[in-house]
Amino acid sequence: MIKGFIFDLDGVITDTAELHYEAWKKLSDEMGWHFDRELNEQLRGISRMDSIKVIMDHNKVSLTDDAVVSLATKKNDIYVASLDTMTPDDYLPGARELLTHLRTEGFSVALGSASKNAIKVLEQLNATHYFDVIGDGNSVTQSKPAPDIFLFAAEKMKLPANNCIVFEDAEKGIDAAKAGGFYSVGIGPEERVGHANLRFDTMKQATLFEIKSFFGDLF
Ligand code: G6P
Ligand code: MG
Repeated sequence: MIKGFIFDLDGVITDTAELHYEAWKKLSDEMGWHFDRELNEQLRGISRMDSIKVIMDHNKVSLTDDAVVSLATKKNDIYVASLDTMTPDDYLPGARELLTHLRTEGFSVALGSASKNAIKVLEQLNATHYFDVIGDGNSVTQSKPAPDIFLFAAEKMKLPANNCIVFEDAEKGIDAAKAGGFYSVGIGPEERVGHANLRFDTMKQATLFEIKSFFGDLF
């Protein structure tokens, strides 16, 4: 039976991809590295340190660990400053409605994000109260596609994986959900999240009615 829902944050509840893009672009320009939207797509769902490694590999750059950490921190400072512009108007269409509906019906709801800034983002959106459990980039060491963040969230909700549905917009996020034995809903195109149990193009289509209709006997 489905008793809990675990939501990724970036690309599911709100669209921070553009802000991440701008911050990585600013750093890359300063460093003389190539960085574009196509490369930014590869960073969807993965941790900050994995992200900078992808960018550096793409540019065939190698630096000391300390230098890499300091550049990742620099990008993060730019990103965090840009979060101040985020308001409760910045939910992806349909996300707030689904969260409200799940609370009304008494489901357990958790966050399962790779971001170390998840709490700040939730505060900017005024969304913290929707979540019983917050799993973020500080909760586990192994990031997606490892299932650890979702297993952490499920354990805190005191639910087994097969009682939970994970919402994800990233290919590696769906990989993580599957690796952990969770049901999954993918938000985005077939080529990115087509391996989820159920897929919607946008959160707007992801109503509880549609989810219950698809998963049927599990409710
Ligand atoms: C999310 C985003 C990624 C980002 C990661 C880490 O998963 O989709 O693009 O790299 O969070 O975010 P952070 O806020 O910790 O740098
Ligand atoms: Mg995401």
